[in-house]
Amino acid sequence: MKNSTQYQTVRVPLGERSYPIYIGKNLLSSLGRFFHRHRLPKTVLIITDRNVARLYLKIAQRSLVQAGFAVRAIVVPPGEKEKNLRRADAVYSELLRFRIERRSTIVALGGGVVGDLAGFIAATYQRGVNFVQVPTTLLAQVDSSVGGKVGVNHAQGKNMVGAFYQPAFVVADIGTLRTLPDREIVCGVGEVVKYGIITNRKFFSFVDRNLPNILLKEGRVLAHLVSGCCRMKALVVSQDEREDNLRAILNFGHTVGHALEHAGSYRSLKHGEAILLGMIAETFVAYRLGMISSKDAARIEGAILRIPMPRSIGFSFAPSRLIAAMRLDKKVASGKIRLVLPTSVGKVTLPIVVDEKIILEALVYLRAVLLSKALVV
Ligand code: NAD
Ligand code: GLY
Repeated sequence: MKNSTQYQTVRVPLGERSYPIYIGKNLLSSLGRFFHRHRLPKTVLIITDRNVARLYLKIAQRSLVQAGFAVRAIVVPPGEKEKNLRRADAVYSELLRFRIERRSTIVALGGGVVGDLAGFIAATYQRGVNFVQVPTTLLAQVDSSVGGKVGVNHAQGKNMVGAFYQPAFVVADIGTLRTLPDREIVCGVGEVVKYGIITNRKFFSFVDRNLPNILLKEGRVLAHLVSGCCRMKALVVSQDEREDNLRAILNFGHTVGHALEHAGSYRSLKHGEAILLGMIAETFVAYRLGMISSKDAARIEGAILRIPMPRSIGFSFAPSRLIAAMRLDKKVASGKIRLVLPTSVGKVTLPIVVDEKIILEALVYLRAVLLSKALVV
């Protein structure tokens, strides 16, 4: 691609569903050229949320229009509570009103909520239309825009309705992270730390060491995080696209994390924050079972606790109620809760059945840690 636009490319190798992730600065204003390169149909429908629309919709639209595409946009309210079937239904109605046909492309412009919702709509509208991810949060750039998991929440649990639906390509414009609120950067750091713990000790140390630069949104450091996480995720997803086995390791911290999000009604805790807390509890379980050394468990917990969390998590949780929420986790098999557990910094197990009594102990421990930091109200 000519002119000053510079980017790196990470490939997700999935046979005929393979695709590139373009990572760089100012890529949004070149979006139309990526569409040309991938020979996508002329009709494009951007799904975004109100916050992102205000900042980036015009830039994306202008680039696509200049490249000869006909562009429409649907703007949804922001927030996890919008990731549901009711909102999806309202968007289907808009698509029909706009007479969007099958030969068109849906673009998710925004964070993980928009990505999961728009991807679910792309996978299901008229049995599937082209899909492109343009993630604008750190969390979405390092994790949710890659790998094809799309879906919505159900009143009884997180991500309970969805599909595997890979995008044609992903454009991660690091420049968009400049406007991201600090709390959202922390959420992204949650998933970034996860990658270090599950696959790469060196990467974990890099993140821990560079935390101040990450929080200051230093461009080069953020680009390193995004490309590093995308490479690790591509490697895992290419071996197990539909989570029959290895891909489950990406769920480290998520069994407890999703239960915490649910307990806070998807309002008190953000996804990335819940994952950070989930990783503390699940590391405790590994330590309690003698699967990880006290040194490595302390390293994980110490790194997580250095990340600035909100002063209050907004609700006081009952460990036994969290266990009930965990029984709905997608890794549950024959009614038994299974967890991905760290065995060192850089290595985790596949999901293993864990006695609920030990999970309860871990939740009591987590609550004590939070209380000691004055985090639980
Ligand atoms: P989000 O989409 O709610 O975005 C966070 C907030 O930042 C929103 O208010 C949004 O409007 C705002 N925002 C987005 N980009 C911005 C920017 N550049 N500048 C200013 N504000 C901006 O949250 P998230 O953390 O990106 O995503 C969380 C979701 O991702 C959860 O629903 C989670 O389940 C999902 N997820 C999915 C996968 C997957 O593989 N599909 C993986 C991890 C997480
Ligand atoms: N974030 C979990 C996955 O993509 O599998």
